[in-house]
Formats: sequence, C-alpha cells, structure tokens
Amino acid sequence: MRTLESLRQIAAELMDGHARLGGEVERLDDLVRNAPDGAARVDVFLTDFLALMQSHFNNENDVMHQMATSRKLKDVFRQHVEAHGDLMGQLASAYGIPSQHQRLEEVRRIIHQWRDEHIPAHDNILEMELGKIC
Ligand SMILES: [Fe+2]
Repeated sequence: MRTLESLRQIAAELMDGHARLGGEVERLDDLVRNAPDGAARVDVFLTDFLALMQSHFNNENDVMHQMATSRKLKDVFRQHVEAHGDLMGQLASAYGIPSQHQRLEEVRRIIHQWRDEHIPAHDNILEMELGKIC
C-alpha cells in the first residue's frame, strides 16, 4: 500500500502529465500541418508519444489499483483501466498504418479523443478521488 506522501507525488505527476498533454496536442497539430510525409521528426514524436502514454496510463492504473477500496470505486476504476486499454489498442493499430501521414492523422484523432473525452470522463474522477485523500 502506498503512503500518503507517495500518493501526493503520484497525483502531482498525473496532473503534470495532463498539462504536458496540452503541449503534445499542439506539437502534433503542427506536425500534421507542416511535416512532409516521411519526416524523421514525425517518427521521433510518435515513438516518444507512445512511451509517454504507456507510462502515464501505467501510473494511473497503479494508483487506481491502490485506491479501489470500495465496490463503487472498483467498478469506476475498472472502466477507467479498460478505457486505457482501448486507447492503447487504437494506438497499436494506428502505428501499423503504412502511410506516415495517415498514421499521424490517426494518432492525432486518438490524442484528441484522450484529451476531449477520456480526461473529462475518467481522469477528472480519479483526480477528485485523489484530492479527497491527499
Ligand atoms: Fe486515464
């Protein structure tokens, strides 16, 4: 079981991750507008972004596992973990798209889905629950 201090640190890291996401969305939008197909920096971005998402989701999943002390929270967090799996599955499919431009467009769609749907529907609940105990 995590200590209160480590939960506070994780909560701060999760919020940093969401703040960083805003910058990633802007970088991705810029790449879609300006990068010629085949640009090396697109592949660098996609590699870094996949690692960022996986690490961020792993941290959230770990915290939710520790915090799921009631049946209601277990159910809420189970749906949240499943949503992470769905997003990573979509990303895995996107990374298999041969055309770099189409791959970039699909990753862009997914990152917007994460920002515009996942965070309001799932992450805000997690942050609220973390706020109750930190
Ligand atoms: Fe999440």
